[in-house]
Amino acid sequence: MPSQAGPGTDAVADALAALFPPERLTRVPADLAHWGRDSTTAYRAAPSAVVFPKTVDEVVALVRLANAEPLKLVPSGGRTGLSGGAVAEHGEVVVSFDRMNRILDFKPAERLVRCEAGVVTGALQAFAEERGLFYPVDFASSGSSQIGGNIATNAGGIRVIRYGLTRDWIAGLTLVTGAGDVLRCNNGLVKNATGYDFRHLVIGSEGTLGLVVEADVRLTAPPEPQRVMVLGCPEFSALPPVLDVFQQQAPLSAFEFFSDLALAKVRTARELHPPLGEACPFYALLEFDESALEAASRAFERCLDSGWALDGVLSQSDAQAAKLWALREGISESIAPQTPYKNDISVPVSDMPAFLEAADALIGTAYPEFEVCWYGHIGDGNLHLNILKPADWQAAPFLERCHEVSPALFELVAKHGGSISAEHGVGLLKRDFLGYSRSAEEVALMRGLKRVFDPNGVMNPGKLL
Ligand code: MLT
Ligand code: ZN
Repeated sequence: MPSQAGPGTDAVADALAALFPPERLTRVPADLAHWGRDSTTAYRAAPSAVVFPKTVDEVVALVRLANAEPLKLVPSGGRTGLSGGAVAEHGEVVVSFDRMNRILDFKPAERLVRCEAGVVTGALQAFAEERGLFYPVDFASSGSSQIGGNIATNAGGIRVIRYGLTRDWIAGLTLVTGAGDVLRCNNGLVKNATGYDFRHLVIGSEGTLGLVVEADVRLTAPPEPQRVMVLGCPEFSALPPVLDVFQQQAPLSAFEFFSDLALAKVRTARELHPPLGEACPFYALLEFDESALEAASRAFERCLDSGWALDGVLSQSDAQAAKLWALREGISESIAPQTPYKNDISVPVSDMPAFLEAADALIGTAYPEFEVCWYGHIGDGNLHLNILKPADWQAAPFLERCHEVSPALFELVAKHGGSISAEHGVGLLKRDFLGYSRSAEEVALMRGLKRVFDPNGVMNPGKLL
């Protein structure tokens, strides 16, 4: 829990203190620094207070106060975001959902859970597992990310290729709009043909329209036992044909990739063994149903024969599968101390070969002075391109230098019909580049919608738009 808030000294502080008891309101500098940011390292947290509502009514009262003052609000979930979407830089009040973390209802026949926004993704996964069910949206940060944040960014992760994104599992949600109205969207219904579905507008809106306070989340049957394979590939361009061959033979639940440099970083940070006898420039990590083992083995042989794979290893136990997954899932954390400039791009999977060739050529010459770390969810077209800050560079000139190269990369992304943010969101980091993925007409409509939901602009200012 936060340290106790100091006494308020201005009118806003007094109004907040009237809404929240001292143990759920803090202005202590260490708390402001902690709750005032997400996992991006480029921005300085400077909120004026952090509050921890426990009920929808408290959230409504807070939003109404924000409109009356005026006061700006920044929603905060597990703070695992990577685009600055939950950063409070200018004296905003951070609204943390850490205390709204209850499962409210479970309907087994409908496989439907109603929960508060602050439920941790991993806790929801565990809740499903205890009932013989499965919540399939998963990523390395699921132990701390929250459902509300997953909804705000339409989080994806490692099994999108089979199960889709957060959007596909949200059957309803409750939003407190920027005007302080409570919208109960879709109520967990499967069928509801009554006009605009605000639920889908809110998913991915990055807290700019209002605060998601509750969600109806769908669960499914657990998958059959899975196997994991890691293949070593001779070059970037070998990855799409490997995907193609496996997709045709075996039902995949994940198809990830990482470069040799990414592997070196995670191995050093976590003291892990290499997956294969010889180092390879790139690696593909595949997960598939155990019943498809023979088909997967045939696909592997085909990749070897064609020269798309040089070697491979297959998990023989769940523990071994977890060790192989650690090679991929540990990368992000292992490079975090190097203040990476994160690119989270996607292109249509069928455009991947041409895009990879052009991107490889561009990046190979664009950053001669920096280490470039590639990894991602290549099976769904999502590539994470991380530029690592050298120890002797300051953060500001490094960010500036990276931003100089971004237009050329994003032009390439746009040329291939891709997106400048596949799953991390736009936040602050990619806001000025939104035009590479959304037309002027779309951005104008977004601004119009923002005004309708949040007429006084109190919600997450400066993010996305
Ligand atoms: C990942 O795929 O590891 C996450 O999106 C985090 C990251 O991109 O660093
Ligand atoms: Zn990712």
